[in-house]
Amino acid sequence: MAISTTLKPCRRLLIGCTRTVGWHPKCPHRLPSAADHHSLHRLHRPADPEPARPRPSAPPSHRGILGIPTTVSDLRRFSSSSEPFPGGGDKAFDRIYIQGMAVKPLVLESVEAEAVKEAVKEEVEREQAATVETEGSVDGGVGNLEESGRDLEVGKEIEVSEVEKEAWRLLNKAVVSYCGSPVGTVAANDPTTLSQLNYDQVFIRDFVPSAIAFLIKGESDVVRNFLLHIVQLQSWEKTVDCYSPGQGLMPASFKVRTVPLDGSNEAFEEVLDPDFGESAIGRVAPVDSGLWWIILLRAYGKITGDYTLQERVDVQTGIKLILNLCLSDGFDMFPSLLVTDGSCMIDRRMGIHGHPLEIQALFYSALRCSREMITINDTSKNLVRAINNRLSALSFHIREYYWVDMKRINEIYRYKTEEYSQNAVNKFNIYPEQIPSWLADWIPEKGGYLIGNLQPAHMDFRFFSLGNFWAIVSSLTTPRQAEGILNLIEDKWDDLVANMPFKICYPALEYEEWRIITGGDPKNTPWSYHNGGSWPTLLWQFTLACIKMGRPDLAQRAVAVAEKQLSNDKWPEYYDTRTGRFIGKQSRLYQTWTVAGFLLSKMLLANPEIATILTCEEDLELLEGCICSLSKSSRTKCSRRAARSQILV
Ligand code: GLC
Repeated sequence: MAISTTLKPCRRLLIGCTRTVGWHPKCPHRLPSAADHHSLHRLHRPADPEPARPRPSAPPSHRGILGIPTTVSDLRRFSSSSEPFPGGGDKAFDRIYIQGMAVKPLVLESVEAEAVKEAVKEEVEREQAATVETEGSVDGGVGNLEESGRDLEVGKEIEVSEVEKEAWRLLNKAVVSYCGSPVGTVAANDPTTLSQLNYDQVFIRDFVPSAIAFLIKGESDVVRNFLLHIVQLQSWEKTVDCYSPGQGLMPASFKVRTVPLDGSNEAFEEVLDPDFGESAIGRVAPVDSGLWWIILLRAYGKITGDYTLQERVDVQTGIKLILNLCLSDGFDMFPSLLVTDGSCMIDRRMGIHGHPLEIQALFYSALRCSREMITINDTSKNLVRAINNRLSALSFHIREYYWVDMKRINEIYRYKTEEYSQNAVNKFNIYPEQIPSWLADWIPEKGGYLIGNLQPAHMDFRFFSLGNFWAIVSSLTTPRQAEGILNLIEDKWDDLVANMPFKICYPALEYEEWRIITGGDPKNTPWSYHNGGSWPTLLWQFTLACIKMGRPDLAQRAVAVAEKQLSNDKWPEYYDTRTGRFIGKQSRLYQTWTVAGFLLSKMLLANPEIATILTCEEDLELLEGCICSLSKSSRTKCSRRAARSQILV
């Protein structure tokens, strides 16, 4: 058989704001309307990603529980039945994958371009004036919730400290514009560092706390623009050398570049230049980007009350592309998402390949958010079933196998190994010798946590903060486990918070372990950066978790620790040492998500009703789904009551 040797051209892709397809030529910075997007969509994207076909070996539908809701609002209230995932084993999406689009931005005549630039300049000036006005009226912000007439309790006017005022100034300064409209915030605005690396870019994960802070304050344009631009970037062809990663992948970051028009040095245009990992250090895949995008999209709807954005065809397609990438069949034996090392906030080698907790928590959360947002029609019904199916299997898997407390560790300590058969107790063949010596002293009598990773014969017992916080926020844990995690944090305050919230993971890898697992990474030395460094941005996720569990006191305590330091230290990206006393060795200053994380925590504490709409509640129907499927192989009774007693440990 002849093998084609033709290689796809390796191209770097830029999206220009002067594209004219479906865009108003006189107003290139205007985002396309829903109608425009229909035409864009037809030109560049699949009409509606056809759900992949059912697996041939689909088990019988004993898992079905409820009917499929018929409207999005129904979905907001109900979960639905779970049938086998109509897996994409045959790569159904290949049929709709649009290869190699014309990527050279279409440009306007230079006279027109000049006129546009003038208009943009005027608009920027107007915006700047508006920003100055808003800065003057910082109010702890509940923005337009009231104006939009929504039934959220509107926050009271609260006093804003000098530190918060400074934070708002910095956050506004970090806003990046593209063709005159705000589209995100730079990762850091550090005047003291010569080499910016990629900190002058808008990172998807970094923008989330800024976005929510802006939404709460009533400034939703920047978030709307961001969400729409990212969905456009998603379907562009990307390559690492000559290999194209999956179409649903969202970029880790993007940069607004100014480039000469047609090689001339007189006229310029702005282009969006995404990085899907092909320029990132280590070429890491930003798996979390798409998940965060979905989570933010839901938050946008919930806070602004504007659900038309999530209902747009291009946005619906964006959600489905991400889900198809995450739900497609592979060689997996577990419902957790299999990823490479460094595919999330920890974007360097840190021994978190496989099934890291952070990705599982975000995955679970994104599935829950998508289920609320997907418009139900004949083609999306199967996808919703697949989502429900995965949600119940994933929550069972994490609750059951990632959870450790005193009792559990005792069980693992006495595990028998080499067990064969479906009735094995030690399913993953964990050798008890793996229990690290620090854990025996560390695990408190009361409370517990979700471990960092689970693979065959491997449990990573490190405590990873973001995964644990987001598992609480999204209800991936049981309510009792959520309480247990907060109890552990309170008990281990000096290890996890001390002088600066929050340790990214605990404990650090040291000595040989550091050498072998990080590959001798000089940036991730023990108690620095990703290896046990302290990251103030994690405050907002912690605050959400605390408010959800009725423990705002804990969040307040952490915020107070941060408030004492951050402004004096110029808002560092991270802190070093076991107790978080030093500003990180290579830490950026004026790191935007440090600023936003702090501000957002303050806003959430002042307006806890907003925290409520950003979290997900326990869904007993999902648990029932899992118990029912387990009941086939055991004597467990299939009912909601059984679900409660089985999984709500
Ligand atoms: C570092 C962090 C990553 C963050 C980026 C920009 O690479 O590890 O999580 O998104 O900086 O701040």
